[in-house]
Amino acid sequence: MTDALLLETRDDTTAAWWRQAAVYQIYPRSFADANGDGLGDIPGIVSRADYLQELGIDAVWLSPFYPSALADGGYDVADYRDVDPRLGTLDDFDDMVAALHDRGIRVVVDIVPNHSSDLHEWFQEALAAGRGSAARERYIFREGSGPDGSEPPTDWTAAFGGSAWERVEDGQWFLHSFAPEQPDLNWDHPEVREDFLTTLRFWSDRGVDGFRIDVAHMLTKDLSEPLPSTAELELLPHDGNHPLHDRDDVHEVYAEWRRVFNEYDPPRTAVAEAWVSTPERRAKYASAEGLGQAFNFDLLVADFDATQFRTIISDNLAQARTTGSSTTWVLSNHDVTRHATRYGLAPLAGRTGVKQGVEWVAAGGPGDQLDRELGLRRAHAATLLLLGLPGSTYLYQGEELGLQEVAEIGPDERQDPAFFRGAEFDGLGRDGCRVPLPWTASGSSFGFGAGDAHLPQPEWFAEHAVDVEESDPSSTLSLYREALRLRRELQTDESLEWIETGRADVLRFARPNGWQIVTNFGTEPFDLGTDAADVVLGTVVDGAVSGDSTVWIAPGLLG
Ligand code: GLC
Repeated sequence: MTDALLLETRDDTTAAWWRQAAVYQIYPRSFADANGDGLGDIPGIVSRADYLQELGIDAVWLSPFYPSALADGGYDVADYRDVDPRLGTLDDFDDMVAALHDRGIRVVVDIVPNHSSDLHEWFQEALAAGRGSAARERYIFREGSGPDGSEPPTDWTAAFGGSAWERVEDGQWFLHSFAPEQPDLNWDHPEVREDFLTTLRFWSDRGVDGFRIDVAHMLTKDLSEPLPSTAELELLPHDGNHPLHDRDDVHEVYAEWRRVFNEYDPPRTAVAEAWVSTPERRAKYASAEGLGQAFNFDLLVADFDATQFRTIISDNLAQARTTGSSTTWVLSNHDVTRHATRYGLAPLAGRTGVKQGVEWVAAGGPGDQLDRELGLRRAHAATLLLLGLPGSTYLYQGEELGLQEVAEIGPDERQDPAFFRGAEFDGLGRDGCRVPLPWTASGSSFGFGAGDAHLPQPEWFAEHAVDVEESDPSSTLSLYREALRLRRELQTDESLEWIETGRADVLRFARPNGWQIVTNFGTEPFDLGTDAADVVLGTVVDGAVSGDSTVWIAPGLLG
């Protein structure tokens, strides 16, 4: 790392603010509901701006708030340059940006370029214009197979289950990698490319600081005939030439986007959601000529296990050094079972973290398989470890309250298309981590809003309400606030040094300013000796770090 970079990363007023930011993900429809219609909204976010400031985060990332029929929780965007009227107006959006900026919080918005909603004007135009029309060229329309074209063009399955092709009235089929209400856009089309540049400028001009790019690895496709079958696709390597995933030519799109980002001062940032086969493939998304940063989901799919954590941390830091980007850490988001629940489940042989959660949700959330206390303890330990690492950490709304996954949602109350279409990858769906937040222990929808929340909140949410946790120094919220406050002192340059502990289940590392993080993944206490006197975060019992917990040590800070 060069000296210039070292200096930059210490000063968060520079263009490098994102390198070690703590970014808090807001799922807008479930954060705070100002108008009492049961859906969270933009004025709701403004009303909680002080809460976000007190939490101590550097930026918020908003999941989609655009006009949408909610076929996929807003990831079906009908208009990329507007706010869903149920969530507010563009003026409300501007007020929100101002309120957050006033509090030193940056704003990142979600861009969904692989597919639009079927209600997008382009798709409606394509349907009306008919086969062979220029309007259909913006999407991926094909004739069906079989004698009368009544079979889909290929046997490909969509991520949410079922065929990846849907037939329209005149008999043609269109491709949808996700729900049928999410037709894939044709990224070979110049108008599609141009329009997204307009969208990026539109939000950048409104003061947005950065973008999160949805399924960034899927935009470009090679759909030359004959189209391969699923079996044929499975045999193809993911080397940049796969017809559907992680193609090298997608980076031409992001190089163009980077030029737009760099028109601004400071340059707008971007982080890719790219589920790709290797860290090397991921690095391409994180390059400075491209999006600049990419999500690293390795810990999210890992178990609560010292060896796995250490390998993942070392590999990703090494990877970040080669790209010049900073690494990212994620334990929870709107797509996966909350980590406080994953970590409390009895280990199922051969399953990784996320899959374990999926199994449990699919089984109806059996209480006897979940040790809530253990899950929460481990969640604290893992989060404190993450917050002590170099790089940026993405936190998901509600984890700062220690929320567990909500399994108690009836079939008729569920919203996730993955539930209705039976997608294997997430079983019963993702609604359980998207339940509206509890702000107060009593009152309508636990203070979320004056109406009934759009997803049912369980009784146990009362224990996790913000007003309860705020007044309890031992709550998860108090711990997050303290950790995020201390993190500002801890973050120096982006490196760490492992310190051997003599225990396979205890990790210890030092940051360049001498601060140390110790995580005990085991059950036997780990003795700290005289360092116990310098613990500034986490609990020491008889001079030792207990099992399933993390402490931060800051030599000399306590005087
Ligand atoms: C991403 C989003 C997920 C969405 C999907 C399709 O994976 O995180 O919520 O369903 O893309 O847009």
